[in-house]
Amino acid sequence: MTDTVQQLKWWQSGIIYQIYPRSFQDSADQDGTGDGVGDLRGITARLPYLKSLGVQAAWLSPIFTSPMRDFGYDVADYCDIDPLFGDLADFDALVHEAHGLGLKVMLDYVPNHTSSDHAWFQEALTGKDSEKRDWYVWRDPGPDGGLPNNWKSFFGGPAWTLDEASGQYYLHQFLPTQPDLNWRNPDVRAAMFEVLRFWMRRGVDGFRVDVIWLLAEDDRYLDEPANPEWTPGDIEHNSVSHTYTQDQPETHQYIREMRTVLDEFDDRMMVGEIYLPVDQLLPYAGTPDTPMVHLPFNFHLILRPWQATAVREFADSYDAACRKIGTWPNWVLGNHDQRRFKSRLGAAQYRVAQTLLLTLRGTPTVYYGDEIGMQDVDIPRDRMVDPAGLQQPDSPAASRDPERTPMQWDASPNAGFSAADTTPWLPLADDFATVNVQAQEADPHSDLNFFRALTRLRQQHPALVGGDYTSLDSGHEDVFAFRRTLDSQSVTVLLNFGAGERDLGDVALGQALLSSLDDLPESGAKLRPNEARILLS
Ligand code: NOJ
Repeated sequence: MTDTVQQLKWWQSGIIYQIYPRSFQDSADQDGTGDGVGDLRGITARLPYLKSLGVQAAWLSPIFTSPMRDFGYDVADYCDIDPLFGDLADFDALVHEAHGLGLKVMLDYVPNHTSSDHAWFQEALTGKDSEKRDWYVWRDPGPDGGLPNNWKSFFGGPAWTLDEASGQYYLHQFLPTQPDLNWRNPDVRAAMFEVLRFWMRRGVDGFRVDVIWLLAEDDRYLDEPANPEWTPGDIEHNSVSHTYTQDQPETHQYIREMRTVLDEFDDRMMVGEIYLPVDQLLPYAGTPDTPMVHLPFNFHLILRPWQATAVREFADSYDAACRKIGTWPNWVLGNHDQRRFKSRLGAAQYRVAQTLLLTLRGTPTVYYGDEIGMQDVDIPRDRMVDPAGLQQPDSPAASRDPERTPMQWDASPNAGFSAADTTPWLPLADDFATVNVQAQEADPHSDLNFFRALTRLRQQHPALVGGDYTSLDSGHEDVFAFRRTLDSQSVTVLLNFGAGERDLGDVALGQALLSSLDDLPESGAKLRPNEARILLS
């Protein structure tokens, strides 16, 4: 490795791997059965698999005490593990094992809202004089005696629910059972910062921070303006523009404070969940004097059209914008809230996308199962469990169950996720007998081995990790080509977004290192349909 790469932090040079704990591995109880839900011991047993993938960190979606109405994103105790997943001793063992393997552990931190079961909210409900009342956001009814304003929940319906006992409404940007914390209250901030310290003392290396751009609301409580682009059928939350509920100046201040807490410990990081355009997104990284999140999640590969020119334009402007403010880029193709990218982009483009994710300049985040090409699973109506889907029956695409199905480990009943006679919490994909880790380990041409070949290339070629990024003129609208250069090393990535063969002339000159289409990469000027090729140039 060159000095440049050695100077990078682990969260810059490494790959983050997201585990959705319910769906990764259900460990057997003493009687040899499981309960159909993944758990911490299951994850610990699979850590060598993560190591074999060449990733650096495991981010676990929430594992804390929760009534699971939003599958853990409704936390009832931030400093304990839900019994469904295990206990603190299991967690300590997981961290110990991970660190022994050289892997980092990141937790999901959910600061915007608690579960309504949380002791703080239960106390707040006891009346207007409760010392925890102001820990949440309360409003009197509007002038017509109804809702305080038109703010909407992400999961459909109003963002306000009436507490009949006091006659006041409380705010919830998600389910009524996920009341928003009042971050304006310094005691709330102090308590939530203690949570971070609690886990960092236990050895946690970083956090993914849930909906960090929603922490504060405008305190005039004005109606949000109608969104002119909204069409019926789209989710109700999008019917207004979120002028007063998202991306407020106070949120930036709270994140600066949050960062100082992280900086009390060595080498910790946070990545913020933020769905915003780049000019509003990058300020979340802060400045050298007042840093904020280490990585503001960049979801634009998910949100923008999958076209070579559009992706090139975005990558050029995003890379330049990151450089300008001195922040490290990052890339995402999928997570537990989004369609699986193989389903979204189509099987033919799957490896092109995987190659892009792992070779652009910046930290890639990989969603579990995407390395074996898992796809969305059609969930029958009577097995739907996601509240986002159940609450919005007119928007069937709102359910996130299809991308949360159990990991496909092998061809045995329940795909090795859970003991054979257990019913997993979500159905398995029909294709698990062929699309699974064990089968793909044995096949040199599998998606899994292609993923590993990509991570190996990153290890062998520092230019792919720390090198500069420059896009190239490929001469074709459907081919995105770029180069990564570091010292004397130069690696070229050629991505054919189309189904036609393309002659790239000199751009394709070099020693082929890897092709998405076979083992022995072809050299030559012609890029085959849907081919991704990497060259030493
Ligand atoms: C964003 C999370 O990614 C999503 O899964 C969850 O439902 C909401 N935040 C509420 O916490």
